[in-house]
Amino acid sequence: MSVLSALRHPIVAAPMAGGPSTPALVSAVSSAGGLGFLAAGMIDTGRLAADIAEVRAHTDRPFGVNVFLPGSGAVDEAAIRAYADRLAPHAGERGVSLGEPVGGDDGYPDKLAMLLADPVPVVSFVFGLPDRAAVAALRERGTEVWATVTRPDAATAAAELGVDAVVVQGTEAGGHRGGLPDDDDYGLLPMLRLAAAGCDRPLVAAGGVVDGPGVAAVLAAGATAAQLGTAFLRCPEAGSSPMHRAAVASSAPTALTRAYTGKRARGVVNDFLRRHDAAAPAGYPQVLHLTRPLIAAARRDGDASVPNLWAGQAHPLARDLPAAELVAEVSADARHALAAAAERASHWG
Ligand SMILES: Cc1cc2nc3c(=O)[nH]c(=O)nc-3n(C[C@H](O)[C@H](O)[C@H](O)COP(=O)(O)O)c2cc1C
Repeated sequence: MSVLSALRHPIVAAPMAGGPSTPALVSAVSSAGGLGFLAAGMIDTGRLAADIAEVRAHTDRPFGVNVFLPGSGAVDEAAIRAYADRLAPHAGERGVSLGEPVGGDDGYPDKLAMLLADPVPVVSFVFGLPDRAAVAALRERGTEVWATVTRPDAATAAAELGVDAVVVQGTEAGGHRGGLPDDDDYGLLPMLRLAAAGCDRPLVAAGGVVDGPGVAAVLAAGATAAQLGTAFLRCPEAGSSPMHRAAVASSAPTALTRAYTGKRARGVVNDFLRRHDAAAPAGYPQVLHLTRPLIAAARRDGDASVPNLWAGQAHPLARDLPAAELVAEVSADARHALAAAAERASHWG
């Protein structure tokens, strides 16, 4: 039986790199009958191994690990230098220097080797599609492989690679766009329907889903489960900062921007985003490394006008609830929403 079909609730807690996805959040969601996900992005293998051990110590239910795939490495260095010149005075005002805009693969080969040596129930990939050999090697060890897509042709390509499930991310989603570079920003509903037409794998729907009626909607549109990120950011078990929690609880608008990391991501609009969005070049992880000391200094100063505040479009609906309660309530509310819709449908015609 697949991990998805064994879940008691059709809810996946999205992997959220940068702190929110603590082992406590992951184990609470998995123990509650959803699927918790560790985020392997932006940490080293030692920390990942410790996080996996902590999840295993607190739950015997399945959980996942999410891995960043490396990009092509090609960037416009002059554009990144120009962006550095633009940001340098801000860093100076805070008494820090900008970081070196270096490239990197986020330790992908080591993380993959670790997950092959000590398999976990599910590995999901983000920022492109994994190669066929990685998919086959993980599956041979009993690990389910999920791929993240943001365009319909990528869902078909993922199925052809032999993945077990496809995470379909709409543009409503908080955090980075998780797929191959896009020509279009597909909303979740068109992406789900187009992916369902071109791919025979279970679909996991991500983007702007924070409550039971939202989960009901994506299940009705063909998803097997919903992957919720922003909904969990206010849980006590999450590692979100107070500044991030306050932004999620606000009714401020969100926008997609390259301003913080050089890769488009959705966050709550603040002064930094407004001022630098139009000038920000593509270049991940170079721009991430460039802005990191400035963002860290603003966080230390308690200044929410600078740091990235990743959140999906429906963030004002996220609730401050323990993760297990959130999973149970969202699932029960989804059931009621589906029953109410079925009742309305029974009067048609
Ligand atoms: C703070 C934050 C960090 C994220 N980090 C990751 C990540 O490390 N890997 C990943 O695949 N997706 C990441 N995402 C995207 C989620 O997987 C998911 O697509 C998104 O949260 C769904 O939209 P929602 O936030 O509206 O629920 C992140 C999202 C947020 C809000």
